[in-house]
Amino acid sequence: MSLLPILELPHPMLRKRARKVRSVGKKLLKLAFDMVDTMDNAGGVGLAANQVGQLQRLIVIRVPGEEEARIYINPEILKREGEREIEEGCLSVPGYRGIITRSVWVRFGALDHEFHTVKFKAEELLAQALEHEVDHLDGILYLDHLESHEKLIKIETALSSEESDDETPDDDEPSDQVGAAHESGARQVDTPASIKVN
Ligand code: NI
Repeated sequence: MSLLPILELPHPMLRKRARKVRSVGKKLLKLAFDMVDTMDNAGGVGLAANQVGQLQRLIVIRVPGEEEARIYINPEILKREGEREIEEGCLSVPGYRGIITRSVWVRFGALDHEFHTVKFKAEELLAQALEHEVDHLDGILYLDHLESHEKLIKIETALSSEESDDETPDDDEPSDQVGAAHESGARQVDTPASIKVN
């Protein structure tokens, strides 16, 4: 098992359509298990193969409270019903969350890691995650579903200088390095308008 780098906007791979998986071998399974580790490590609910640089129709999901991670190959949203407004984020768009419209429930179909067909109806967080991850495989990000820039929220917590347990240095302290490099650019990136363009 290993952790894979998660690609972030505006990496072009995130805008590409992933290819259908024709057969399941050791290589694909290793990718799937590595994606589960990567998702868990990043604290995500789901991850699509595009996000780790693989254009294959493969997604993983771990709904909080469920013991097993879900691995789905060639996933499809077969039917969607209803609309609800919810807050959503993406590991490839760090530092932001947006309010978008998702389905109340979906009917979902895919192959599991043993290449067996699975079909079920999902709602709430699972439905949201399925829609989000299948979107990724088509090069779609949740940002594309935003009705307006006002619906995109910047998360400030990452910049708070409260004692945190992790080893990564705070962004806002050594401004001679990271800060200076971003200088003028960072301010622009902070605005929802320019994020949307990507
Ligand atoms: Ni995502």
